[in-house]
Amino acid sequence: MKVLLVNGSPRANGCTFTALSEVAKELERLGIDTEFFQIGNKPVRGCIGCRKCRSIGKCVFDDDLANELAQKMKEADGFVLGSPVYFAGPNGAFCALLDRVFFSCSDLHDKVCASVVSCRREGSSAAFDRLNKYFTIRNCMVATSTHWNTVHGDKPEDVLQDLEGLQTLRTLAVNMAAMLKNFNGEGAERAERETKKFKTSFIR
Ligand SMILES: Cc1cc2nc3c(=O)[nH]c(=O)nc-3n(C[C@H](O)[C@H](O)[C@H](O)COP(=O)(O)O)c2cc1C
Repeated sequence: MKVLLVNGSPRANGCTFTALSEVAKELERLGIDTEFFQIGNKPVRGCIGCRKCRSIGKCVFDDDLANELAQKMKEADGFVLGSPVYFAGPNGAFCALLDRVFFSCSDLHDKVCASVVSCRREGSSAAFDRLNKYFTIRNCMVATSTHWNTVHGDKPEDVLQDLEGLQTLRTLAVNMAAMLKNFNGEGAERAERETKKFKTSFIR
């Protein structure tokens, strides 16, 4: 079983990475494989709403990381989206990627997932809510912890001093591991789903 840890910060080894590493360490201790995915700092396109992904099964734009990330998420049993807090939301470039990934992927159901945010001071719960919206429209299984998954800091060393934040992340990993083992272990039942999908856009 594998969990993909997606670092939505342009700083590859910054605070978000430090937070995700705490989750990864605990998952590994519990026998779950982990893999990191860095979005880095190259240009990222926003969704243009063309809806071509509905017929071709992936984003029309192949010149950034969106389709690679989508593929990795489909292959993993679970994923954690990590982002720095920028003006009380997740990093805009990360959201641009995630809009395209989650619009083009309708088959992320049953994935065990969570989001993690890092801020210097405030705005973390708004950013956390925004990231969780991706999961809750895509039938994912959201793991929880004993607080909203936030760490505080401007540098990795600061995050390492946020003992409550780090403990929240370890508890999150414990819950994710339990969910993964129960959903994917021997005798686990897949959710029964309606096959016909209604779409009402409030226009009769
Ligand atoms: C453009 C920008 C906007 C930011 N906005 C906020 C904010 O609204 N609230 C906050 O507490 N920190 C804010 N910060 C600080 C970062 O969220 C914080 O340093 C974070 O831990 C950095 O994570 P990283 O090292 O993974 O990039 C901002 C930083 C940048 C560069």
